[in-house]
Amino acid sequence: MARQLDWYSYQLLAESIVTMRQQGNRNRIVILNPKGGCGKSTLTANIAACYAQRGHRTAIMDYDPQGSTTAWLSRRSSDLPEIHGIAAYKRSMQATRSWQLRVPNDIENLIVDSPAGVTHDDLRELTRDSSSILVPVLPSSMDIHAASRCIADLLLVAKINRSERKLAVVANRTRKNTKSFAKLMRFLDSLGIPIIAVLRDSQNYVHSAERGMGVHEMQPSRVRDDVAQIDRIVEWLDGWEARRSQAIEHTNIGRAPRVGFGLLRKPQFGSA
Ligand SMILES: Nc1ncnc2c1ncn2[C@@H]1O[C@H](COP(=O)(O)OP(=O)(O)O)[C@@H](O)[C@H]1O
Ligand SMILES: [Mg+2]
Repeated sequence: MARQLDWYSYQLLAESIVTMRQQGNRNRIVILNPKGGCGKSTLTANIAACYAQRGHRTAIMDYDPQGSTTAWLSRRSSDLPEIHGIAAYKRSMQATRSWQLRVPNDIENLIVDSPAGVTHDDLRELTRDSSSILVPVLPSSMDIHAASRCIADLLLVAKINRSERKLAVVANRTRKNTKSFAKLMRFLDSLGIPIIAVLRDSQNYVHSAERGMGVHEMQPSRVRDDVAQIDRIVEWLDGWEARRSQAIEHTNIGRAPRVGFGLLRKPQFGSA
């Protein structure tokens, strides 16, 4: 006699497939550079605030034991658009393999703030399933050196495929017309990886961070240049699905069979 799944089991199955699809379509942005102080948490907070201001459901996953973005969120006023925070640093990297399960299903943009000095294993783990990876770089010889190693590791260890075009650099704390800025730009240009924004050295980032805000949430007349650069970053980030489709078309990975709602056809169990 044929046996059927009960209604509750169907609901669970349907929900898990919907969740799988949502997570597959989620914009997962990883901010990474093993060098401390280059602006990872600043960038994370400002991208999150920009998305939240645009009405997108946004979460930050804070992997840094210093908990900078978690502290930033705790200073954020409840009058501002909500940003969901996940203090991932409280668990070991191994225990966070199933990170998807702890992010609320309705989150559209997940921004991952990473710690300084990640191991190769952590690098692979952090960048897995990412839609975009941003590397903030400061204009100093030491930082330029550290950034080139970080980008080499992303390409060779984490096996980020250049054709996916998910990797980009943000020049941070720049002062135009200085030698160090020119050196940074020459270095970034030589990598063939896009420089999607140039953030100036400005107290606006410091003051907004102190208040749990992004520059988008400060008085507009004071932050126009800074807002324009964060907008550029977010516009580039929003192109992730188009870039992925192009990469799939390019490499023909898309031939893999698709998992669809066909899975929900009632299963027929044979008699025992
Ligand atoms: N563009 C900027 N202008 C001025 N100060 C900045 C800028 N970016 C970051 N900072 C400051 O530099 C310090 C380090 O930045 P942070 O984002 O915490 O780096 P990381 O997370 O990479 O360690 C913080 O005090 C931050 O406020
Ligand atoms: Mg940080």
